[in-house]
Amino acid sequence: MSDHSPFVASRRDFLRTSTAVAGTSLAGLTLARSVHAAGDDTLKVGLIGCGGRGTGAAKQALNADDNVKLTAMGDVFRDHLDSSLANLEKQDDVAGKLDVAEDHKFTGFDAYQQVLDSDVDVVILTTPPHFRPAHLKAAIDAGKHVFCEKPVAVDATGVRSVIETCKAAKEKNLSLVSGLCWRYDNGVRETMQRVADGEIGDIVAIQENYLAGGLWKHARRPEWSDMEYQLRNWLYYTWLSGDHNVEQHVHSLDKAVWAMGDTPPVRAVGLGGRQARVEPIFGHIFDHHAVVYEWPNGVKMFAYCRQQDGCTTDVDDYILGTKGRATVLKNRIEGEKSWKYRGEKNNMYQTEHDELFASIRSGNPINNGHYMTVSTMVAILGRMATYTGKSITWDEAINSSEDLTPAAGYEWGPLEMPLVAVPGQTQLVV
Ligand SMILES: NC(=O)c1ccc[n+]([C@@H]2O[C@H](COP(=O)([O-])OP(=O)(O)OC[C@H]3O[C@@H](n4cnc5c(N)ncnc54)[C@H](O)[C@@H]3O)[C@@H](O)[C@H]2O)c1
Repeated sequence: MSDHSPFVASRRDFLRTSTAVAGTSLAGLTLARSVHAAGDDTLKVGLIGCGGRGTGAAKQALNADDNVKLTAMGDVFRDHLDSSLANLEKQDDVAGKLDVAEDHKFTGFDAYQQVLDSDVDVVILTTPPHFRPAHLKAAIDAGKHVFCEKPVAVDATGVRSVIETCKAAKEKNLSLVSGLCWRYDNGVRETMQRVADGEIGDIVAIQENYLAGGLWKHARRPEWSDMEYQLRNWLYYTWLSGDHNVEQHVHSLDKAVWAMGDTPPVRAVGLGGRQARVEPIFGHIFDHHAVVYEWPNGVKMFAYCRQQDGCTTDVDDYILGTKGRATVLKNRIEGEKSWKYRGEKNNMYQTEHDELFASIRSGNPINNGHYMTVSTMVAILGRMATYTGKSITWDEAINSSEDLTPAAGYEWGPLEMPLVAVPGQTQLVV
């Protein structure tokens, strides 16, 4: 195993964590209205990254607790910040909880630090994932509770930073809730608990599908620098998104990691490329990846993701066991103990924030740091395998010195267009 032994977690740890989460939420419900340590009962929220997800997460945060308000917003682009706030102002359930003064609207690459310096209690980190390691570190250093969207990094250097930050969060008793939202879905939770309880027998293999169509893109405007253009189209640049097998497929990979007791695989080999989405507006990422991962006990995961229009779509998780199989997003088990979830449905995005705020109120912090770093690193390992065409071990991947930060730093100016990876030629950065 690598230097990064925090990745080793037993199935028992996993069960303990699951129970702890449920316990926290129950404790939180009874203690939810206890007084915040600062003496003022109001929890002030800062939003960092005011796009689609950030706006949604802000609404969920504001609905998670009676006494909460949004007091600061930060984004690299002022137009994004303004449209996020305008969107929230139109919604009756949260409009009364908005208190963002003009001098608490921050823009530019240091906006995150200004939000953190503005006396908030909780921050929502919803920028493109490249920035997450630095923003998360700064947030925990500043003593803030965090809602942290997935994925948490785009390279191993970022993952190692996040591992350290998650330890610091634990030491400081700060809550850190991950945006790997399926972990907060009632039906998925119960399906995964049944898998952990052995209802499909021993796991033999897992198939993860994220077969989807294309996403949004923005045509270049003449006044945009290269940096602005790439940031406004961040999905298509590996340094910003990690590629779609990291940015999107991490949701699926996370469920496989969950089924495997939150332990990492030992190696991966894969293939991928770009066939349907080759125009410059799609940057340099692939449009399909197929990766086979292997765990120490021989279990294999076959992980497929695609962003190509006009093809069959399927997003689900198929866990095959010696006594049956689970289809996780359909909340279904077939085999010796066939079962279908018929319990109460929930809005998992809302539950993430309900449990976050309840944990803050009760003083029982949630820390989702372990699985969010393992799952992000599993996704990055898959990209390393598809970009290089080589079989890559977990140890090689997690110890890689790859750091995708632009050489010139964060400047509004020229920025090289990264090359499309070519399997067999692109090398793993050791
Ligand atoms: N859990 C989920 O289901 C889910 C769904 C969608 C997105 N996400 C994740 O949420 C994150 C944001 O995705 P999105 O769809 O909201 O994208 P988006 O483009 O709509 O929003 C990102 C925002 O961050 C801003 N930004 C970029 N760099 C910044 C920086 N350095 N500092 C401050 N702001 C910066 C952008 O200008 C933009 O407004 C991504 O990590 C994505 O993977 C999760």
